[in-house]
Amino acid sequence: MQLFIDTAEIEEIRSLNITGLIDGVTTNPSLIAKSGRNIISTIEEICNVVSGPVSAEVTATDFDNMILEGKKLSSIAQNVAIKVPITFDGLRACKAFSDEGIMVNVTLCFSAAQALLAAKAGATFISPFIGRLDDIGADGMNLISEITEIYDIHGFDTKVLAASIRSVQDIIDSAKLGANVATVPPKFLKSMYNHPLTDKGLSDFLSDWKKTGQSIL
Ligand code: E4P
Repeated sequence: MQLFIDTAEIEEIRSLNITGLIDGVTTNPSLIAKSGRNIISTIEEICNVVSGPVSAEVTATDFDNMILEGKKLSSIAQNVAIKVPITFDGLRACKAFSDEGIMVNVTLCFSAAQALLAAKAGATFISPFIGRLDDIGADGMNLISEITEIYDIHGFDTKVLAASIRSVQDIIDSAKLGANVATVPPKFLKSMYNHPLTDKGLSDFLSDWKKTGQSIL
């Protein structure tokens, strides 16, 4: 399973990317707004740091302007994936971009029917928003399950990118259900490697080691 980082904060991306465990980055207009920075220079900087797909979202809602914005974003770097919302025009734009060999991330997916259309439109990624479904009392994980089942049965290449992650358990559950990617806010990525028993075990090992008076180097 691939792990993308869900942020537009370049320093955070830099500090986590040195692990070699980051396969890509997702941004959206809210994350760009939160960063307080210009979208073009931010995406450019991210693409200089991370070689995997970097999602940059169009903000136009009509087909013609989605195409113009998408082409501008796509010209920033080869690894930009154009993010389009799952609307009638968004699906048209997805088909047009994918026909040109441009990566597309279809976002704001809340139903299996939407995911089926995105796959038919040639989406590289479909982004089901787990957390926002859970927030309204629906079952985000059930959506992941429905999409992976449909894509498996019909052999669609579109990758399921679990988005709107709210906990480490969301990442694990998505992985068990066959999502290809989870896009993870930095704080959850950090808590993935933390465990109190790891800390305790390490502390015990080091205290025993000190008693030996040895040094490996
Ligand atoms: C990523 O592609 C999505 O835009 C993001 O995961 C949405 O997360 P949120 O629901 O926490 O805003």
